[in-house]
Amino acid sequence: MSELLNVALPKGRLGDKVYSVFERAGFGCSELLEAGRKLVFESPENGVRYFFVKPSDVAIYVERGAADVGVAGKDILLEYAPDVYELLDLGVGKCHMCVCGRPDFTDDGVGSLRVATKFSRITRKYYASLGRSVDLIHLNGSIELAPILGLSDVIVDIVETGATLKENGLAALERILPVSARFIANKASYQFKYEAVTDMTARLSRHLEVQK
Ligand code: PRP
Repeated sequence: MSELLNVALPKGRLGDKVYSVFERAGFGCSELLEAGRKLVFESPENGVRYFFVKPSDVAIYVERGAADVGVAGKDILLEYAPDVYELLDLGVGKCHMCVCGRPDFTDDGVGSLRVATKFSRITRKYYASLGRSVDLIHLNGSIELAPILGLSDVIVDIVETGATLKENGLAALERILPVSARFIANKASYQFKYEAVTDMTARLSRHLEVQK
């Protein structure tokens, strides 16, 4: 029996969508159906070992080789710029990185624009490309609170359905970039587990073609 491929998947709603792509491509894992607190799930018959981590941590596991492959949002890849191979756009978890704020907010261009975000690198780059000076406020979650409480003028965050913004009286003001889930590989694993990694890539990609 050959070695299992270690696959890091993002926990939460993106992880559920991503796992079903793997399952349909022939990498199902019956252990995953058992409810509980387990963190590692193996399917020796399909050659995979899955573990679920915080979405923003997937790239770290893959970059350092604790996982051979994984799935991370394009937002995470642009923000942390991990040294990994990006092999495939899985076409799931589609959303946009947006500037959001009160619906009536307009930037008068005076002084620094106060921007709260988890995505400091993306935000800095975006405003630098516009030549707009910003006072960047790095937060770790519940970003929508910042403009509501007057901590910032706007936020830069992911918008998927728009429900979070709507429920908080905010709106998407500008789209910065489209985001979707990407299949990534550790650079050494790509070399040393070449067959397994390329087989997985090909099967996932065939499946995506079937979906179109
Ligand atoms: C993201 C993002 C928004 C929300 C947008 O948060 O930060 O809060 O999703 O989705 P919607 O447009 O469908 O409402 P996530 O749920 O990933 O959790 P987080 O706040 O921990 O980042």
